[in-house]
Order: sequence, then structure tokens, then C-alpha cells
Amino acid sequence: MTPATPSPSRPPVHIAAICGSLRGSESCTRKALGIATRTIEAEGASVDLIDLGRLDLPLRESRGDTDAHAGTAELKDRVARADSVLLGSPEYHSSFSGVLKNALDLLSRDEVGGKLFGLLGVSGGNTGAVNSLGHLRYVVRGVGGWSLPAQVSIANAWKAFDGDRLADPELQARIESFARELVRFTRLYKMQPEFEEGLIQVIDRNR
Ligand SMILES: Cc1cc2nc3c(=O)[nH]c(=O)nc-3n(C[C@H](O)[C@H](O)[C@H](O)COP(=O)(O)O)c2cc1C
Repeated sequence: MTPATPSPSRPPVHIAAICGSLRGSESCTRKALGIATRTIEAEGASVDLIDLGRLDLPLRESRGDTDAHAGTAELKDRVARADSVLLGSPEYHSSFSGVLKNALDLLSRDEVGGKLFGLLGVSGGNTGAVNSLGHLRYVVRGVGGWSLPAQVSIANAWKAFDGDRLADPELQARIESFARELVRFTRLYKMQPEFEEGLIQVIDRNR
């Protein structure tokens, strides 16, 4: 795939992808995020894959208690620089992972408020990560974000991958189209102030 070139009508966008599994390169969540991030880059956007296991994050205690921590500062900085956020989580006991919840608790509306979120979940069982995805929607609302309606759920993760791709071509295509949609809406959302201003000018001219 040839990367799409940024242009005035196609502004550069930057996406933070947070992996909610600590299993590094063995993680199916990480592999799924890899498919999404490669597609995001092919669409001409930049992406920062945040591996929570490498950040040495503290557990969240109370408001303001962790702001001086280097790991928290790095997480906040990397997420603040992003135009939108892609969250990937394994299904743990019918919800998303505690490590991802802790990371979201360390963030505030300053870094994520008003941003778009794409949601991707991975499960060992055959019902998929629907609980993780549903619970993440609540939490994204809680931090003042906007979840895209489209989402990806990968069931039977232990046998779903063939190398760095999904064995099922339809699921592979779904994750790629989900990633393209995230880039598309991130761009539209970034351009929204210009759209609004342009629209107001057209309406005013025709009054
Ligand atoms: C503590 C724990 C709880 C789990 N709970 C569920 C579950 O409720 N439903 C399910 O389908 N899989 C469950 N699994 C399996 C994981 O979703 C599966 O192994 C997944 O691939 C882990 O993601 P990862 O490969 O990115 O680390 C659980 C795994 C662990 C470690």
C-alpha cells in the first residue's frame, strides 16, 4: 500500500495506540494493534504504539497524586500529542484489562477530553471481546471522549493469527477498514473548525 500524501484538504494526523496487554510481542492484542497501526500508516497518518509494560506506571491513588511520576508524565505527553486514541484490550473476566483501566485513570480530560477513540478487543473464548468493548465505551464517555461506532472484536485469539496477519481474510479486512475509518474521522474531526467557519461564511453570504 502506498502511503496517502498529506495535503491542505488532508491534514496530517497522529494517533496514539495503547496496548492493554503486558505480554509484549506474544500478545494477540498487540498483534491486532500491529495490523491496525500498519493500516493507519498506509493511510498517511502517524502512530505511536504505547506499550504499558514499558512505562513503569504507578497505580492510580487519588487526584493529583501521580502527576510527578516520570512514567505518568510520559504517558500523558504521548497521549496529549495524539489527535485520536486507539485502545486495544484483552478480555479479562468479562471486561477489559486492569492495566488499561489504570492507564486511563492516570490520564485526565486534559489529554483525552474531546478526542476520538477507536476500540479493539481480543478474547480467548469464542464469544469475542464484546464485554471489554462495551465497558470501554462507558469509560471513554467518562473521560470526555467520543467512541467510533465501528469496533473490532477478535475471538479465539490463540488460533486467530497466521504470523502478523489474521488467518481469516474477512477479519483481516475488517480490522483494516476499521483503522481506515479511524484515520478518516480523525481527519474530519481535526478539520471541523474550518468546516464550521466555511459553512458559517456560506450561510452569511447567502442571507
Ligand atoms: C485473567 C484473565 C482473564 C481472562 N478472562 C477471559 C474471559 O473472560 N473471556 C475470554 O474469552 N477470555 C479470557 N481470557 C483469555 C484472554 O482474553 C486471551 O488469552 C487473550 O488472548 C489475552 O490477550 P493477549 O494475548 O493480548 O495478552 C482471560 C485471560 C486472563 C489472563
